Amino acid sequence: MPAQTSFRDLLALLDQQRQLRHVSRRVDARHELVAIMRKVQKGPNQSLLFRTVTGSPTPIATNVLCRRSILADALDLPLPAMLPELVKREASTRPLETVSDAPVQERVVTGNISVESEIPQVVHCAEDAGPYITAGVVIARHPETGIHNASWNRIQIVGGDHMRIRMMAPQHLGQYHAAAERKNEPLPIAVVIGAPPSLMLSAASKIPFEADELLTAGGWQGSNLRVVQAKTVRLLVPADAEYVIEGHVLPNVMEDEGPFGEFTDGYVARAPNNVMRVTAITRRNDAIYHVILAGGPEDSTLLGVPLQTEVYKRVSAFAKIRDIGTPGHIFGCVVSIEKNSDDQARAVMLAALAAHPWMKVVVVVDADVDPHDPQEVLWAIHTRHTPETGVYMIPRLGSFQRTDVRDAHRGKVGIDATAPMSMRDVFRRRAFPGMDEIDLDVVLDPLRPR
Ligand SMILES: Cc1cc2nc3c(=O)[nH]c(=O)nc-3n(C[C@H](O)[C@H](O)[C@H](O)COP(=O)(O)O)c2cc1C
Repeated sequence: MPAQTSFRDLLALLDQQRQLRHVSRRVDARHELVAIMRKVQKGPNQSLLFRTVTGSPTPIATNVLCRRSILADALDLPLPAMLPELVKREASTRPLETVSDAPVQERVVTGNISVESEIPQVVHCAEDAGPYITAGVVIARHPETGIHNASWNRIQIVGGDHMRIRMMAPQHLGQYHAAAERKNEPLPIAVVIGAPPSLMLSAASKIPFEADELLTAGGWQGSNLRVVQAKTVRLLVPADAEYVIEGHVLPNVMEDEGPFGEFTDGYVARAPNNVMRVTAITRRNDAIYHVILAGGPEDSTLLGVPLQTEVYKRVSAFAKIRDIGTPGHIFGCVVSIEKNSDDQARAVMLAALAAHPWMKVVVVVDADVDPHDPQEVLWAIHTRHTPETGVYMIPRLGSFQRTDVRDAHRGKVGIDATAPMSMRDVFRRRAFPGMDEIDLDVVLDPLRPR
C-alpha cells in the first residue's frame, strides 16, 4: 500500500482498520476534550475523532499517531525494519510539486483576523494560561538561504491576530528568527494543522540545518510533497493539509507565555517568548482540526521515532540491532541487540548515550526482549543485569538543558541488561508449545451474565 500523503487519508485508514473511535456527543473544548483523550490514552489508547466540539467550527482529531505502528502504516514502512528504512529514505529527498489550486485554500480569511472564531479554543491542563495550538507544524524559510524548516511549536492563542510562540534557538526556527531579527525584519511563518504524516515526522526530526525539511518529507512518503503558495506570506505550504495559519514572528518583541502543562508531565512556567501576528487563516471547507497532548502517546511517537533513528545511526556500527524503543520517556532508550560478545553491549550503550544530548538513561537488552514493552525491559533488568559490573555512569555530563530543570539532568547512565555470554544457555527463555495457535474466545466459556 502506498504511503498516506494527507492527514485525512491517514484518518480514513485508521477508520478502515477500526482503530479510530468516533465521539458524537457534544464535547467542551475547555478541558473536557483533553480529559477524554487522556482517559483513552491511559486505557485502550485509540485515535479519536470528536465530531462536535463547543466553539469549534470543525471536528477535532486527537491521539492520531498514538502507536509507532500507525506511523509505520502511514508511511508504508515495514515495522520491524522501520529505523533502517527511515535512514535510507532520509537520504533520498524528493522535489516539491507546486499546485495552484489546493484543498487547504478552499476557505480563506484575511483582514480583521479573529483567531478565536476560526480556531478551536482547546484548553489542556488545569494551570495552563489559556487555549493553545499544540499540533501546529511551523514552516519557515531561512532569510538568506531560502531553505525550508519545519518544526513543532506550541502556540498560545491571545485573541484577534495575536499569538505567542515557543521557538528558542538552538531550535532551527529560533535560528531563522535570529537571522531575520539581525535585519530587524519579521519572520514569515505558516502554521500547518492536520499536516501530511511525512511532514509531521520531518518537523519532529533533527534534520541537518542545511537540509530542506519539505524535501525530506517527500523522501519519507516516497512521493513529491504537493505544495501551494501561501496567500499572504512568501512560503510554500502543503496543499493537502487541513488548516494553515499564515503570519509573521515580530522582531525584538517578547511577551510572557505560559504556564503550560508540557511533555515531562509538569508545567513549564510563564516566561518571555515570541509574538506572532496572523495575516491569514486558510482551510478546507470540511477541515478536521488536530490536537496533540504534550507528553501523550502521539507526542511520544513523534519525538521517539526520530530519537530512535538517531540512536540507530550510531549504534548499528557496534552490533546487529533488533530494534530500539523509548518506552519510558524520550530522555532514554532501550536497544535490543543480537550480542556476540559482552563488549558489544558496552559499546552500544556508550554510543547510544552520545547519540543525542537528551539521552540520559540507556538500557541494552538481548534480542529476545521487546524494547518497546516496559514490562519486558524491567524483567530483563531484574533477571539478567549484574549491578556490580553492568552499570556505567558518566558523571556531570548534562542532558535536558532547559534552565528550570537542568540540575535534575546531570550525569548519564547505561544499564547492561543482557545475559552474560558465558551463561547464555541458562538464560534461554522458556517456550510453551501450541500457545500461539490458541484462540481464547474458542477455549474459554463466555462470561455468565451476573
Ligand atoms: C507535538 C510537539 C510539540 C513540540 N513543541 C515544541 C515547542 O513548543 N518548542 C520547541 O522548541 N520544540 C518543540 N518540539 C520539539 C521540536 O519540534 C523538535 O525538537 C524539532 O526537532 C525541532 O526541529 P528543528 O530544530 O529542526 O527545527 C515539539 C515536538 C512535538 C512533537
